[in-house]
Amino acid sequence: MTKLVMKPSTALSVAPAVLVTAGTMESSDITTLAWVGTLCSEPPSIGIGVRPERWLHHFIVEEGAFVVNIADAAHARQLDVCGMVSGKDVDKWKLSGLTQETGTATAVPLVAECPVNIECVVRETLPLGSHDLFVGEVVAVHMDERGRKGGRILDPICFVNGRYWKLGDLIAPMGFSRKQA
Ligand SMILES: Cc1cc2nc3c(=O)[nH]c(=O)nc-3n(C[C@H](O)[C@H](O)[C@H](O)COP(=O)(O)O)c2cc1C
Repeated sequence: MTKLVMKPSTALSVAPAVLVTAGTMESSDITTLAWVGTLCSEPPSIGIGVRPERWLHHFIVEEGAFVVNIADAAHARQLDVCGMVSGKDVDKWKLSGLTQETGTATAVPLVAECPVNIECVVRETLPLGSHDLFVGEVVAVHMDERGRKGGRILDPICFVNGRYWKLGDLIAPMGFSRKQA
């Protein structure tokens, strides 16, 4: 099949869509992010790309912490809402109907409805251009039953080419190629 050489872009089009919270129980923001990824296993670290103009951004800078909340597909509407309006203009907790709960390692509120909440402390901030990369070291992970079963019954939201998707069929477990003759 013929391939075209395209202009440079973030062609790595598969991304997790998550809700990131920052601030405190008294004053916080909840924002949808997709430029999110695992960066390091030890210490466990996650990177998020946030535009400086986002309301979320100043909370992360001020508190030096954020929480990555993995929403499930049943909360896709709330996730979309939190990516459409700014906390500068509206209280997104009220608007989305999502509930705050306290974390254990940071002052940042967790999203109670999300099956997994990952508390992170900012270790590095790297201005890249349109976005700042915050490298967060994971300091606590909260999981309900869906997350604990190896994520097998998690129903995370994938963001591909401007659309939200659920995971599809299992192909095989890691290492399956070694078991074949
Ligand atoms: C699916 C989706 C993914 C997004 N990913 C990012 C992202 O990775 N980084 C970012 O800065 N903004 C991202 N946004 C945009 C923000 O969520 C949006 O501008 C939001 O209104 C900012 O809210 P805030 O000003 O309260 O932080 C995304 C929006 C959506 C809907």
